Amino acid sequence: MNGSKRKKVIAGNWKMNKTAAEAAMLIENLIPAVKDAECEVVILVPFLNISTAIKMCEGTNIRVGAQNCHFAESGAFTGEISVPMLIEAGVEFVVVGHSERRQYFGETDDSVNKKAKAVIENGLYAIVCVGESLEEREAGDTEKVVGKQVKAALFDVSSEHIGKLIIAYEPIWAIGTGRTATPEQAQEVCKFIRETVKNLYSDEIAENMVIQYGGSMNPGNAEELLALEDVDGGLIGGASLKADDFKAIVDAANVK
Ligand code: PGA
Repeated sequence: MNGSKRKKVIAGNWKMNKTAAEAAMLIENLIPAVKDAECEVVILVPFLNISTAIKMCEGTNIRVGAQNCHFAESGAFTGEISVPMLIEAGVEFVVVGHSERRQYFGETDDSVNKKAKAVIENGLYAIVCVGESLEEREAGDTEKVVGKQVKAALFDVSSEHIGKLIIAYEPIWAIGTGRTATPEQAQEVCKFIRETVKNLYSDEIAENMVIQYGGSMNPGNAEELLALEDVDGGLIGGASLKADDFKAIVDAANVK
């Protein structure tokens, strides 16, 4: 069974979905739906929905996060949002290095590392995404690729701050495709990530690290994936946009 020390984290990555009015409607439905969750429940919303989400989630068990940030505190970076701005808004989590950002917005291992450090050194949680493409998996390079991404993301991250870092294993071929990793594949890579962290830090840090799986997680497959020994939660895209589906995944995380 799942390591007893680690509380599962179920995070909904809304991506570029939901206007303010739609966001309010979804959150209104989510609040009663997940109120008894034993896991952490996080919604990662578009920047413009953050203030609505924070206001509505105050006093509830839903925590709010952003999907990106800049690594600098402030400066001439047109269109960007800094960590201090997110802190002031009340955000607690920030996604870093999602594969869509790596693919479409030029995110590199280096910028992922800088952003992850900016987030955790300022006291927020970073959800750092890693994962291989289909080509890389078929070439047998999954561990090579994921290991490199994990090491790069953790470069120069001190043990003092590492407790704020969550790693999400998201095979690119499983994101938004309906093609989920098998439980064996998810467990194998999440375990490999934990071992990589252990080699970089210590047994204790690796044992305490939350490692999520993401990629077409849905009410039908969540229970099986979330029961895996090294899977401590999920990063959920499509299924986080409907309150019923997200609730079903949160409920699956509560199954012992
Ligand atoms: P998906 O997205 O659940 O829609 O596959 C997951 C993600 O990109 O975080």
